[in-house]
Amino acid sequence: MIILKTDEEVARMRASGRIAARVLAAVAQAVRPGITTRELDALGARLIRAADAQSAFYGYRGYPGQICVSVNEEVVHGIPGARVIQLGDVVSVDVGVEYRGFIGDTATTVMVGVTDPEIIRLVAAGQQALDRAVSLAVAGARLSDLSHAIEQTAASAGYAVVRDFVGHGVGRQMHEDPQIPNFGAPGRGPRLRPGMTLALEPMLNQGSSEVEVLADGWTVVTKDRKVSVHFEHSVAVRDGAALVLTCVE
Ligand code: MF3
Ligand code: CO
Ligand code: CO
Repeated sequence: MIILKTDEEVARMRASGRIAARVLAAVAQAVRPGITTRELDALGARLIRAADAQSAFYGYRGYPGQICVSVNEEVVHGIPGARVIQLGDVVSVDVGVEYRGFIGDTATTVMVGVTDPEIIRLVAAGQQALDRAVSLAVAGARLSDLSHAIEQTAASAGYAVVRDFVGHGVGRQMHEDPQIPNFGAPGRGPRLRPGMTLALEPMLNQGSSEVEVLADGWTVVTKDRKVSVHFEHSVAVRDGAALVLTCVE
């Protein structure tokens, strides 16, 4: 993992984070009935290129997309393709970019005319889990305090967290140490220090926590095919309050 030491390094992580956040916001805005996930990928590709950045996903272990788009039962790593977005869908978009040597990684989940109150509650719980983890990413905390808060937020709303995929350190590489599970007892793991940069990414399932990977080798789906949501920010640990790197301003 990297520790940001200079203002220059912080500025560069903010720059890549800002690009990722702006691309994510634009793609999330474009999600509507009738659009294909491939069209969302093309929009993401165009915006990443327009920002002079590169997709951190394309070619990563052979990943074929520019972004990830995961619909309903798809948890993460959905490969954009011919799937057409329908009214009532729950769409998770994940954007990772590299800009001047630093990575920004961020995801959100949008509802397309969803009226089912249970799904609306699931999405709110996912957002709340991320917000709580961000608020705990301060110097002096223990890493598993964040994991525990995510799991507790999900559990108290009646949802399960995915256990097979984790958050991670982020910096010059997309996936750096440490791994950050979305569950666990508090008070464990390394103590957070100023300058650590973390990608926090709760994945919450409407049903069981169990997931499997489809035959395409990437798309992660819930075993029970119930809905899953995903929210992610890249943040820098500081004294007092985390700095959210993947914000649009
Ligand atoms: N962005 C994902 C994460 O949050 C990783 C995507 S890997 C890819 O860690 F190859 F699917 F793009
Ligand atoms: Co991501
Ligand atoms: Co990530």
